[in-house]
Amino acid sequence: MIIFAMTDFIPEIEKRKSKRAISNKNIPPEVIGRIMTTATLAPSCFNNQPWRFIVVHEEPFLKNVKAALSTGNYWARPAPVIIVSCTKSDLDCLPPDGREYAYFDTGLAAENCMLQAVKEGLIAHPIAGFNQADVKKALSVPEEYTVITLIVMGYPGDPSVLNEKHRQAEDAGRDRLPLDQVVMYDKWDSNIP
Ligand SMILES: Cc1cc2nc3c(=O)[nH]c(=O)nc-3n(C[C@H](O)[C@H](O)[C@H](O)COP(=O)(O)O)c2cc1C
Repeated sequence: MIIFAMTDFIPEIEKRKSKRAISNKNIPPEVIGRIMTTATLAPSCFNNQPWRFIVVHEEPFLKNVKAALSTGNYWARPAPVIIVSCTKSDLDCLPPDGREYAYFDTGLAAENCMLQAVKEGLIAHPIAGFNQADVKKALSVPEEYTVITLIVMGYPGDPSVLNEKHRQAEDAGRDRLPLDQVVMYDKWDSNIP
């Protein structure tokens, strides 16, 4: 098995980590502009661009989105910006065998914007722990859309505000399945669940 050094990778991929200590310092609009532009540079099926993002940065919208966070996501409360990613299936390819590309393509755009955020010196932490109905109501998201993730964004903050578990996770290494449990060559490996 070939072992790679982290320095062999794109620096932003290497650096990106879902950290939780986030400061309330404002993010300049031009930085947000660059981040959202990179989101739109993602590939998508037939170039359908099914992603819809709401950059939430003003009150009362920000406060109302934060009120919809699950309790475990308390750490997101200081964040000056939360990017809400939304899509719906019929905005993208729907081959008759049941594949739905809107969610995949929106994820590609989200990763682009998170990597640009890293380049800008920001933390960009995606979360699923929120009440979707409350977020939709707070931001007037149409019923037929799914809010897939919130991306909590901000400059690095003070880890002492985190609970013990989260404080330890801040500097922990990357926890990943070994490559041979997720990557196969040439055909499906029946040993892989
Ligand atoms: C779709 C999605 C939902 C997530 N939801 C949460 C969440 O609600 N709260 C949280 O603290 N982290 C959440 N995370 C972050 C993951 O826990 C994190 O990405 C994973 O542990 C890998 O760590 P890393 O991003 O630092 O490499 C979520 C990540 C993704 C992609």
